[in-house]
Amino acid sequence: MKKDMKINRRRFITSGALGVLGLPLLSIPSRNAAPSDRVRVAVIGLGSQGRSHMNWFNNLPDAEIAALCDLDKKRLEETRKQLQSINPDSRADIYTDFRHVLDRKDIDAITCATPDHWHALVAIMASQAGKDVYGEKPLTYSLTEGQAMLKNLKGNNSVFQLGTQIHAGENYHRVAEIIQSGRLGKIHTVRLWKTGGSPGLGFPPNQDPPDTLDWNMWLGPAPYEEYTPVRCHGTYRYFLDYSGGVFADFWCHIADIMFMSIHPKGLSSIESRGERPQDGIADAPRWIDVDFKFEDLNVYWTTKPPDVPGSDKMHIGAHFEGANGSLTCDYTTRFIKLNNEILTDLPEVPVTLTRSPGHQQNFVNAVKSRTQPESNLVYAREMTIPMHLAVISFRLKRKLRWDSLKERFIGDEAADFLLSRTYRKPWSLPS
Ligand SMILES: NC(=O)c1ccc[n+]([C@@H]2O[C@H](COP(=O)([O-])OP(=O)(O)OC[C@H]3O[C@@H](n4cnc5c(N)ncnc54)[C@H](O)[C@@H]3O)[C@@H](O)[C@H]2O)c1
Repeated sequence: MKKDMKINRRRFITSGALGVLGLPLLSIPSRNAAPSDRVRVAVIGLGSQGRSHMNWFNNLPDAEIAALCDLDKKRLEETRKQLQSINPDSRADIYTDFRHVLDRKDIDAITCATPDHWHALVAIMASQAGKDVYGEKPLTYSLTEGQAMLKNLKGNNSVFQLGTQIHAGENYHRVAEIIQSGRLGKIHTVRLWKTGGSPGLGFPPNQDPPDTLDWNMWLGPAPYEEYTPVRCHGTYRYFLDYSGGVFADFWCHIADIMFMSIHPKGLSSIESRGERPQDGIADAPRWIDVDFKFEDLNVYWTTKPPDVPGSDKMHIGAHFEGANGSLTCDYTTRFIKLNNEILTDLPEVPVTLTRSPGHQQNFVNAVKSRTQPESNLVYAREMTIPMHLAVISFRLKRKLRWDSLKERFIGDEAADFLLSRTYRKPWSLPS
């Protein structure tokens, strides 16, 4: 899809597509869209999640995989073959350096499923090259990166969707409707949890990276370290240099339902407790519990589930406590406690939220209509901030006070210092 097509579509869709709820109506994809009407997508980072991106976008009638990119040639070749097998007509080009993908004028959007420490830079550089972005969670490695992303993507008028696909599901929409209906009364407490923690991964020796892998590029803006396989594919997420462990991995999946339902504001304090693993070189929390104080709302993150209805079967969950009742949910189930009864729905609560056509279709529709999708950057950034602050509290082992307007800690230079990091040269974060 060329730039002028974008403008044509913008006129076409925005002229008649505002729904009664003030939300953009979600267009029904036309089967067999003409090639000129398809959004041309490049997938960057081809681990298990990048391959899911490839499958998802390949299956959309009005999207087309135009390029695949990974700095690991072995993974790149395997994924190219996989695409050929599911779509023999595909003419996707392959790249080891994402900057060459961004040079392509005929690519409309990129998806990014690299490790977390690359998310912001890839998204910003893509937006500077005129691309829209479907980017994986967690949104960013640091809070400062989120600020830079917001400034750049807004300035370049880029569409952004965070890859939290559960957001699009029926259960989250229904939970949000029930909470927003007020039937449970004012929500004063939310409990979020994810069982299990990050492993230490042992003490493997350093070794030469495989010839097929560009290790220096993989590290990108992160500090230089010698290669050992556990630092790289998949298990990188257990190192604080690249991510924030199980906590950072799952925070946005389940905090999403809290933000979707009540969008808490005015975060003022964060207190993490936890331990790093003792059995290896990885340093993300083996367990972490966090107390957050928002305006009129207490939020507790725990590694063990709280004792609430249904939680024994949920490895991840959210529990809302209101003045009149409570609701416990995970990605697909919910238990409502009202008047001493446990229910799965409140039929008297009307359907008020527009349902998603699917998380990736929602993005493609937004690209075509030049609107922002459901998990857009403003939303995703606000949802991600508490996670960054909790990791800093974990690292410093103390309670932190936060000024949510200035986006700085109160009277704590050391904590402020950890809101950003110095990029390893030649990489730098655009301001
Ligand atoms: N939405 C979800 O449910 C979900 C599920 C799993 C993973 N994820 C997210 O997806 C991302 C990837 O996770 P994964 O498990 O597939 O990781 P992975 O380590 O298996 O794959 C990442 C791939 O990115 C490549 N890569 C690294 N830097 C690159 C760069 N600069 N340019 C091109 N390629 C680069 C690596 O070589 C690797 O093949 C993570 O951010 C993770 O949090 C999301």
